[in-house]
Amino acid sequence: MAPITKIEQLHGHVGEEVTLRGWVYHKTGKGKLAFIQLRDGTGICQAVVFKGNVSEADFAAASEVTQESCLIITGLVKAEARAPGIPGGYEVDVRTVQVVQIAAPYPISPKEHGVEFLTQNRHLWLRSSRQWAAMRVRAVIVQAIREWLDGNGFLNVDTPILTPAAAEGTTTLFEIDYHGEPAYLAQTGQLYNEANIFAFGKVYCFGPTFRAEKSKTRRHLQEFWMVEPEVAFCDLEGLMEIEEQFVSHIVQRCLRECAPELKVLERDLTHLEKVAPPFPRLHYDDAVKMINEAAQAGVLVPGYDDPVPPIAWGDDFGSPHETYIAAQFEKPVFVHHYPTQVKAFYMEPEADRPEVCRSVDMLAPEGYGEIIGGSERMSDPAKLIAAIEHHQLPQEVYNWYIDLRRYGSVVHSGFGLGVERTVMWICGLDHVRETIAFPRTLTNMRP
Ligand code: 4AD
Ligand code: MG
Repeated sequence: MAPITKIEQLHGHVGEEVTLRGWVYHKTGKGKLAFIQLRDGTGICQAVVFKGNVSEADFAAASEVTQESCLIITGLVKAEARAPGIPGGYEVDVRTVQVVQIAAPYPISPKEHGVEFLTQNRHLWLRSSRQWAAMRVRAVIVQAIREWLDGNGFLNVDTPILTPAAAEGTTTLFEIDYHGEPAYLAQTGQLYNEANIFAFGKVYCFGPTFRAEKSKTRRHLQEFWMVEPEVAFCDLEGLMEIEEQFVSHIVQRCLRECAPELKVLERDLTHLEKVAPPFPRLHYDDAVKMINEAAQAGVLVPGYDDPVPPIAWGDDFGSPHETYIAAQFEKPVFVHHYPTQVKAFYMEPEADRPEVCRSVDMLAPEGYGEIIGGSERMSDPAKLIAAIEHHQLPQEVYNWYIDLRRYGSVVHSGFGLGVERTVMWICGLDHVRETIAFPRTLTNMRP
């Protein structure tokens, strides 16, 4: 049998005979010809079965295969500019066809299906080319994340998922029974990251995080993956420099490696191509002014029929505010110095203006909203104890965290980048449910 080859490698086998193993994505043909779009996980390629080139039994087999039937074929690889597929441009002139299984009538056809139906059939929907493309881009994003951090002196130290206390607000905790004691699924690894920097200097954790979000938006999951770098001797300005380098690296690597996938997704690359440092920086005060000027003038939220809603100084942004602000810039934008009252207890207030804190969110362009949240951390033990009291958190479970400020405290900062939000933005998807293989949303955790 000819050597087993992957569709993404066909360009290196023109003129050779190869074996492909995969599934029928689509089939057409008439008379002496059958055209099978075969997918093998790495791409889709047109397999041309001409009656004169195969045995009678194989031609009969090729003619009766159904969508998603599993096949092993051998054939000659040809460069053919017009050949459809992913990446396209190559076809296989088939010599033998071995049917592994004839698939039962497949529920997902090329026609349009409702989202609810597709969601229920996520285990099958994943095979569709748009879903396939998004998962492939996701994998490259994850590789780029690790590559940049590993290459820039960050040590990967993972943090626990079972935790005794809240770290990002008490309203989104998933509570579980830890042998008779309440415990919570981690909302973030940050507090443990802060312990780790005193041992290792620069660290990151990367894992699933959990938020019992009551919001049913296109950006919220109950379970999502977050990468969280944390750095000793780093202030807010230093943090923004790290973030813009990091995000630019991720985007540029996707542009280099994911051209076929981004094409399947019909992603307009104009904005992505501009993603390089420096990113614009916008103070919360100025963001509020921008929003209220737009609200006053009756400007519509880009992509929506509704006008930009006004905002009172001190309130957190809603998603129309984020969308409007981000749309004013071609690159991701940093919004920094949010009001202390809307942010987490651990953020360092500005020394001469404690009503704002040394926090920064990164908003992606084109309406994708917040992809990163981060801040400089409170480094003074007395201030931290006061903040814990102010937020009515139980001090005894945070004693170890306060300890970090007792033994060699130093200015330090960190951030969390949401993988799914990043996939949504880079792939240009309009719902976060398509950014992870098996999404957990407010209304669905099946299959
Ligand atoms: O802004 P957040 O809540 O920040 C933290 O958790 C910090 N402790 C991170 C840190 O400083 N180490 O979340 C960070 C990012 C958001 O910007 C967003 O991309 C993503 O995590 N995120 C969500 N993604 C999907 N569904 C949700 N429910 C999300 N909540 C946050
Ligand atoms: Mg946030």
